[in-house]
Amino acid sequence: MILVLGPGGTVGRRVAARLRATGSEVRPASRSAAVRFDWAEPGTWTAALTGVTAMFLMAPDGVPVDAAFVDLAARSGVRRAVLLSSRSIETMGDARLLSAEQAVRDGGAEWTVVRADWFAQNFDEGFLRPAVDAGTVAIPVGGVRQTFVDAGDIAAVAVAALTGDGHAGATYEVTGPEALSFGEACAIVGTAAGREVRFDGTAGAYASAMTAFGVPSAQIDRDVAAFAALAAAGDSAPQDTVERVTGHPPKRFADYAAGASW
Ligand SMILES: NC(=O)c1ccc[n+]([C@@H]2O[C@H](COP(=O)([O-])OP(=O)(O)OC[C@H]3O[C@@H](n4cnc5c(N)ncnc54)[C@H](OP(=O)(O)O)[C@@H]3O)[C@@H](O)[C@H]2O)c1
Repeated sequence: MILVLGPGGTVGRRVAARLRATGSEVRPASRSAAVRFDWAEPGTWTAALTGVTAMFLMAPDGVPVDAAFVDLAARSGVRRAVLLSSRSIETMGDARLLSAEQAVRDGGAEWTVVRADWFAQNFDEGFLRPAVDAGTVAIPVGGVRQTFVDAGDIAAVAVAALTGDGHAGATYEVTGPEALSFGEACAIVGTAAGREVRFDGTAGAYASAMTAFGVPSAQIDRDVAAFAALAAAGDSAPQDTVERVTGHPPKRFADYAAGASW
């Protein structure tokens, strides 16, 4: 039995579907799933773990991965944990995901950390969709290139680590096959969507957009500093992880965009 957290999320949904397709027994668990699991309610944890031998661990942005849950899982018989994390967390000072990784490494089960780059699906299913629809995406990273990765490829790597051997103790950097600037990615989305999608990489545009969403100014300042550190680190380099772990090449961003609904 494989526990899948975040089963309604961009990656967890694909992990659950792929596990089912390969014949694994899957237990999706979240606040709204049939098996209730809430990171904020330890009383929901034990039932979610009953009979589980492996788990896909994730927490949405802003929610910590509680080390007490990871410990409880190992004591309940979970032998393998695969954590969804992110690239560049040291550069961006992401204390939440750094402690999540530490909790999993210290947690007593075999572990694999999946450090994904920017999800391609941010543009159609994720937090960038309203900006895409409005015609301007604003992220204060200028022209730095990132290796946008398809969520299906992230899920495929996670499923390989959940169901196959040889992944224990690995921290996988999971990327798409090419590095693109946000400007280039927006142009590709615009072509696929049949309308103009502009990119503004300045801190001012980001601050205006976030202020309009009601994000507090202290949070905006922290985000701008983290994005500036990311941009200063320079272009991301594509990794061969998807092909090495799954046997198939990662999806190109243009192919993702052509297949998405706009
Ligand atoms: N976006 C990116 O480019 C990117 C890149 C690398 C890494 N990441 C990381 O990936 C993670 C987000 O992944 P995602 O986008 O696939 O998921 P997501 O959409 O952020 O998560 C949604 C899922 O989490 C569940 N959920 C929400 N609050 C919960 C709670 N308190 N307890 C238990 N479950 C809860 C939701 O179900 P219910 O509402 O039913 O609870 C839903 O299934 C974050 O840690 C992020 O830092 C993101």
